Amino acid sequence: MVINKKDIVKKIIKNPHATINTMGKAYAPANIALAKYWGKRNDILNLPFTSSLSISLANYGATTTITTTQEADQYFLNQTQQDPNTEFSLRLKKFLDLFRPAKDFYFNVATESTVPIAAGLASSAAGFAALTLALDQFFNWNLDKQQLSILARLGSGSASRSLFQGFVEWNAGDQEDGMDSYAHPLPEKWPELRIGLLLLDSNKKPLSSREAMQRTVETSPYYHRWPEQVAHAIEHLHQAIHTKDFELLGKTSEKNALGLHATMLTAQPPVCYWLPETLQAMQHLWTLRTAGISVYFTQDAGPNLKLLFLEKDLDKLTQEFPKLITINPFSYEE
Ligand code: PMV
Repeated sequence: MVINKKDIVKKIIKNPHATINTMGKAYAPANIALAKYWGKRNDILNLPFTSSLSISLANYGATTTITTTQEADQYFLNQTQQDPNTEFSLRLKKFLDLFRPAKDFYFNVATESTVPIAAGLASSAAGFAALTLALDQFFNWNLDKQQLSILARLGSGSASRSLFQGFVEWNAGDQEDGMDSYAHPLPEKWPELRIGLLLLDSNKKPLSSREAMQRTVETSPYYHRWPEQVAHAIEHLHQAIHTKDFELLGKTSEKNALGLHATMLTAQPPVCYWLPETLQAMQHLWTLRTAGISVYFTQDAGPNLKLLFLEKDLDKLTQEFPKLITINPFSYEE
């Protein structure tokens, strides 16, 4: 029997609409995977083939406010009302339908995002995580973070990791219903670590990560090596985080990102998120590394690069990349 999202919602939420508050409001950070999630063993429940490990972006993320409205759902993104037929609205509606108390119950959802939407900067992760937290408040479910991580995953896989700050690992799990597939935070902190966002193009990506992922799994002759690569990467990342070995962290993350793009480039038809500017920036970074600056990159389903470096190199890197947005991932408040 096929397990659908509603079945999972029923398993987790015992008192779906016991109380309905006038408002629910919550914040969730965006996150960047250092060992990536790529490929689903279950397409409906967003269950991954592999575990993944990410770093959350402190105060770069989404704040979502939920209230009710009269005649139809209304969605706002950065104060602009969204057409109900956009991909953004349709995805949101599908997720909200899982929790709607009655057919004629309508949500007003307002999201303020501090990260560029759909530019491969994991904005959907922050959005679905903030929405899940806001729904928990709105309906007084009082769920724990593990349960909320599972619910957020139903919106977008990587959202399962945005429930937490710092380093976060999403365990793939192996149960058919995915009740063991959720994220947890790692205890280690690394205050000197910095993330740089190198925005090379903020237009919407031409192909969604959902489609790109599926095509890669189905057609890339290299995909079968991917699970083993991610497992190694996670092992090395644990070691790097535990011993604060920055070279190992950077090298592992960059290699994992390039491995990810190698599977995409060999898909049929090929999936290429690289722009000339992307390659140019990579070469610039490799040159800097040869010159002794310890900087690495990672890249998701978009043309932008995310840099990894330590605070001591901040000045040099802002000189090289004047538009670099720098984030201290451990600057969040507990
Ligand atoms: O959660 P999705 O469906 O947006 O997929 C995220 C895919 C990557 O960003 C490329 C990797 C990851 O682990 O975040």
